[in-house]
Amino acid sequence: MNPLATELNEMIQKANPHVYEMLSTLGREMYFPKGILTQSAEAKAKAKKHNATLGVATEGGHLMALPSLMGQLKGFTSDEALPYAPVAGLAELRAAWRDKDLKDNPSLAGKSMSLPIVTNGLTHGLSIIADLFCEPGDTLLLPDQIWGNYRLTYVLRRGAQIATYPFFGEKPACGCGGKACLAPTTEQGASGSIMTGFNLPAFKAALQQACKGKSKVLVLLNFPNNPTGYSITRAEGEGIAAALTEAAQGGVNVVAVVDDAYYGLFYEPEVMTESLFSLLAGRHERLLAVKCDAATKEVFVWGLRVGFLSFSAGGVAADSPLFTALEKKVSGEIRSVMSNCSMLSQQAVLRSVKSAGFFAERAAKKEILQGRAREVKRVLADPRYGSAWTPYPFNSGYFMCVKLKKVSAETLRKALLEKYAVGTIATAERDLRVAFSCVEKENIQELFDIIYQAASELG
Ligand SMILES: Cc1ncc(COP(=O)(O)O)c(C=O)c1O
Repeated sequence: MNPLATELNEMIQKANPHVYEMLSTLGREMYFPKGILTQSAEAKAKAKKHNATLGVATEGGHLMALPSLMGQLKGFTSDEALPYAPVAGLAELRAAWRDKDLKDNPSLAGKSMSLPIVTNGLTHGLSIIADLFCEPGDTLLLPDQIWGNYRLTYVLRRGAQIATYPFFGEKPACGCGGKACLAPTTEQGASGSIMTGFNLPAFKAALQQACKGKSKVLVLLNFPNNPTGYSITRAEGEGIAAALTEAAQGGVNVVAVVDDAYYGLFYEPEVMTESLFSLLAGRHERLLAVKCDAATKEVFVWGLRVGFLSFSAGGVAADSPLFTALEKKVSGEIRSVMSNCSMLSQQAVLRSVKSAGFFAERAAKKEILQGRAREVKRVLADPRYGSAWTPYPFNSGYFMCVKLKKVSAETLRKALLEKYAVGTIATAERDLRVAFSCVEKENIQELFDIIYQAASELG
């Protein structure tokens, strides 16, 4: 074990021994080297005469740059756009993103959590958490509706064992609508059942099962959900948080990873507008809450690759060495895989997030997407579609899914593509995902008419 890793481990053990227990072998061994970067940082502060430390080229006191390149970057100097970024991210961006998170999630105020660390998009953050906290054989609890990439990141790369539960509840279409009726939605299921919201009882049961005889469990939660476009209500969020806390109280170390990729794109009044992370932060010493979010969808900058990782755990202060040590381990992860994330992307996102118009601009784009989601609901209310599919409940995000009644999703997807030049995604045997985020409102009726036509021809 490198002495620097030992030092970080001791810091973590002292601050919160349960978080140390959660670390994978790689997580325990990870450290941030005191090499070139530390020497460069010292030189930046003190070498006022000649600084011959950096692996960059300078000219006339500025970063060397080709005019043909700088001509593409109007508004940026070479010193702003081209240097390497700090490994944990641009300090101003980290502070600005924390401020944005606090504004979006008022109940995070006063809770102890780390400053967000910049990652190369959200995927990178998920992968760092997998490296640091997932040992081969560890259980990862996931619903049956997920972004498929989790399998590569956690199962293929890190050997996680997936435990699963049905994402949505279902109940018979009793039509009682009374107190006994659990359904907040009215979608008709394939077998005359009604799909309810998040399946809290199934989640709790799967969590209990996953914890049996185990000292640790990883849980990944993603709302708005890809692929279904469903976000939890506050009551569902409270239920999830209570179940995770109960597991922690029972002596199991819980790594709760909140994937907030589509955060903020909430379209219906019942949806909880704070991140689930805000209900988990600081909740219990054995509960490490991790917020993986990103500018990717929130700032509409998919290819810029700017994401963030934030930690919270119970029993520690906001300035706890726990967060310093975790930041160093994450920095070691970043340094060893990609050295650092794009400076130009960070600068551009920083300027946008700090601009006076940021929240209004974001709200305006959300309104457009909300208009499309409502149009999808209006179109799907037509009972004629009922013979072909049942829509899963949706209230947020980019997507919605239909559960097909008579035809396989892959068969339909191919037919739509070949015969009608319409692209959709088959996410499961009977589930077809439609990204209304990239279809104009006026084309939504036609889109579903075509899908219905193709489904009717096949079934
Ligand atoms: C649920 C979910 N998480 C994470 C990501 C990845 O985000 P990023 O592009 O920032 O890596 C996506 C992208 O599709 C997603 O749907």
